Order: sequence, then C-alpha cells, then structure tokens
Amino acid sequence: MPGSPAPADKSTAQRGVQRCINSSCGATFGLRERIYVCARCGETLEIDCGVNARVDGRALRDQWASRPARRAGSKAPRETSGVWRYLELLPFEADAPFITLFEGNTPLFEAPRSAEYCGLRALRLKHQGYNPTGSFKDTGMAAAMTQAVISGARTAVCASTGNTAASLAAYAARAGLRAAILLPRGQVSSSKLAQSLDYGALVLEIEGNFDACMRLVREIGDEPSVYVANSINPFRVEGQKTVAFEIMEQCNWCLPDHIVVPGGNMGNSTALGKGFQELLVLGLIDCLPKLSVIQAEGAAPLARLFANLDGQGRGRGEHIPEKLDPVENPQTLASAIKIGAPISWKKSLSAVLRSGGQVISVSEHEIADAKAMIGRDSIGCEPASATTVAGVRKLVAAGQIHRDDDVIAVLTGHALKDPDYMIRYHDGTLSFVAQKGSGPLRPLGGAFPNAPRRVAANKADILSSLERRQ
Ligand code: F0G
Repeated sequence: MPGSPAPADKSTAQRGVQRCINSSCGATFGLRERIYVCARCGETLEIDCGVNARVDGRALRDQWASRPARRAGSKAPRETSGVWRYLELLPFEADAPFITLFEGNTPLFEAPRSAEYCGLRALRLKHQGYNPTGSFKDTGMAAAMTQAVISGARTAVCASTGNTAASLAAYAARAGLRAAILLPRGQVSSSKLAQSLDYGALVLEIEGNFDACMRLVREIGDEPSVYVANSINPFRVEGQKTVAFEIMEQCNWCLPDHIVVPGGNMGNSTALGKGFQELLVLGLIDCLPKLSVIQAEGAAPLARLFANLDGQGRGRGEHIPEKLDPVENPQTLASAIKIGAPISWKKSLSAVLRSGGQVISVSEHEIADAKAMIGRDSIGCEPASATTVAGVRKLVAAGQIHRDDDVIAVLTGHALKDPDYMIRYHDGTLSFVAQKGSGPLRPLGGAFPNAPRRVAANKADILSSLERRQ
C-alpha cells in the first residue's frame, strides 16, 4: 500500500545536509541529527540537498513531464504524490520509506470575479486546500513524517492553530507514529479539532495562545523520543517547497509575475521562496516571481517590520534585521494565522526581499469580503487564505501590482475548515475585537451577505422567493 511505513534503509535513504541560515555561522549538520535550530548559534536551519548549477535542470524538467501526475492504480509514490513526484530535489533517495496520503496535485483555478474585485484582468488561485486533510500542511507533513520514520522517532508533536495539527495527526497515523498536539484552547475551529481527534492524536489544550504552545513545543523538542513537526523543522519546508515546482508545471514553465501567500508562522512563504530559488539555480526560470506575504492586521509583526525597513534594506535581500518585535496578544478572526511571534520570519523575509515582493497586512473587513468573493468564484477557502485576495486588491490599489500582471494567489485551506465563520459572515453576526484583544465586540458588516431565508412550506411562497432573488 502506498504510504505504509517500510523499514528505513539507514545507509541510503537520504542525501544532503542541514545548514544554519546565519551566513556568518554556516554550520552544517547531518540529516539524521534531530535538531531544529543550529547547535552552534541557535539560528534556524535549512536543508541543502545539492541543488546547484551543475544539476541538469532541463533533464529534470523532461523527466517530470514524462511522469504522470497521478497514474491510476499506481502504487509508486512518485506517480501518486505531488510531493514525491519531485524526489530529485528532495533530501531523500528512492529507497526512503515514503509516507504519503496522495498530497499535492492541487488545482490552479481561474478566478474571474475575484480578478475584477482586485482590479486585475485575470487572477489564478492555487488551491492547497484540496490536499488530503484540507490544507497546504500536507505536502510538508509527507516529508516530515518520512524523516521521522527514518530517524526512528516514536512521537511527533506540534503546536498548532489547527491545520498543522490535523495534518500531523493524519500523517503520523499513516506512519505508525504517535501524535501529540498542543492547541490554544477555544481558539481552533471545530472542524480542525474534529479532524485531529478522528485521526487519533493526543490533543492537549493549553490556556494561552499559539505562541505559548510553540514555546512549549520547543522545550519538549529536547526530549530524544520526540519529533517536532512544526515548520521550524526544515523537512517540512522541503515538502512544502514542491508547490513552486507544481505551479511552474501547471503554468507550462511560463513564470507568473507575482505569487501571493498568507503569513502566519512563515513556513509557507519560506518554502515557496526556497522552491523558486532552486528553480532559478537550476536555470529552469530566469528570474524570481515577486513573492508577497499578507498578514491579518491584528497579527502582523512581519508586515510592521517590513514597513519600517528603509529603502536600502528592502533592496538588498541579505540585510535582515536581527530581531522581530512580536505582537504580544495577536487578534484576528482568521484563527489559522493568529500568530504574534512567527518562527520562520527571517527565512521568509529574505525570500520576499530577494524576489522584490512585499509584506503587508489587511483588515478583518478586507479578509471577510475577499473570502466571500472567492466563494462567488465557486472556489471558497478558509479565512486565512482570503488574506491573499484582499492583499492583491490592496497591492493593485497601491500600484505594486499592475492590471495586466500575471498573479497567482495561494489558498492554503479549504472552505469547510471554518464553516462557522462563513455562516456568521452571511447572516450578519460576525464580529471582532478591534483593539488589541480588549474592548467591545464590533459587528463586521460584510459587503456580500447571503443569509438563509425562512419560507413557508408551499410552492407559491417558494416561487415568490425565487422571483425576489432575481
Ligand atoms: N493559512 C492557513 C490555512 C494556515 O493554517 C496557516 C498556518 C497559514 C495560512 C500560515 O502559514 O504559518 O506557514 O505562514 N497554520 C499553522 C497551523 C500555524 O498550526 O496550522 P505559515
């Protein structure tokens, strides 16, 4: 069965090193070393699996083109998974014990109504919510759980606003590992919580927010039996970077001008940046698409830092500040990105700067209306994903994106991840705390409500409702 854990072949399953991102340190560590930050300087790590100009990029591209994205009946992970399809650029060899739930291979939709809403001629939405557990986390989790099996881990843990939890729970179960999840109590959508319970994870609810859960996971990560599956784990980033390769194949290798993603803990933007950078090194693209990250106004530490970078700092991708001031009490109804101290902010910021993109924030109103518009395009997504369309609209208005530009926004989670938000938006009861976690709840009057209507149980009343709708 594809995805069943095979015994790890310890001699050949992997290739590459883990490298500290701090260029003045640059320490390297073996792939089997279960560390999540540099043992020498404490900075985050990234994986170098030998993607360099000596690799024949065109041969790789032809190889992928001849590999079916999903061969009916195939049991080969490379023919069923949109992650393992790109094995040549991942830190694993062909005999690794691949964990898969048929992730990746997600659709790239045309979104004409959202395009018009943003002031664009066209807009495409890459929907990572079509992954097995309904979010983009699954591509990274396929790689992280494969690595967990290779490294002999027994228990995988994560802090989560809900999606990482659901994904870890599913992939750990598939890998035969125990999963333990730290969630901020009362702050995770019931759909995501339900998934984690159903996949059999141990769910530990903490009084505190995501950042508090993340701090605890980093402490627990010292335990030798524990494997940390948050995006501080560079193997997660490896799996998630494959979306860049998939986008380029879907675009017939015609490079979009802009890629726009939501920002929370900053793993996704880091991964997309790394994916496109590798394609550039391989000569498969000749410049980087502008990578822009959109945060929710009440949880936007990186957007704040970005706004304060001087022009020079923005121009030079290597000039990354030493510290990020966290948002102490982040607030947003887009609960997936209610994060005040993102772990991967340095890697994300350097990818944005290298590409010439932006980091901005959008309001609760902007998120909610953009989400409804994505729904009208018959696509739908969870609130955090809608920051992208809200952000594109704002960047168009600011002249950073032009009407004819080729723009791809990445939707990260499925609409059914947070049905309560949708119902409340449409029936007019959605409300939020405007000021730093205190103060009164303010109603969020959306521009595109669509409340259910009561109708008498007879033909005449139903027909008259239909007429009124037209
Ligand atoms: N969109 C969704 C739907 C998410 O669940 C997340 C993060 C993000 C965007 C932000 O991505 O963290 O890589 O910048 N969710 C994490 C979780 C934090 O625990 O599920 P990021």
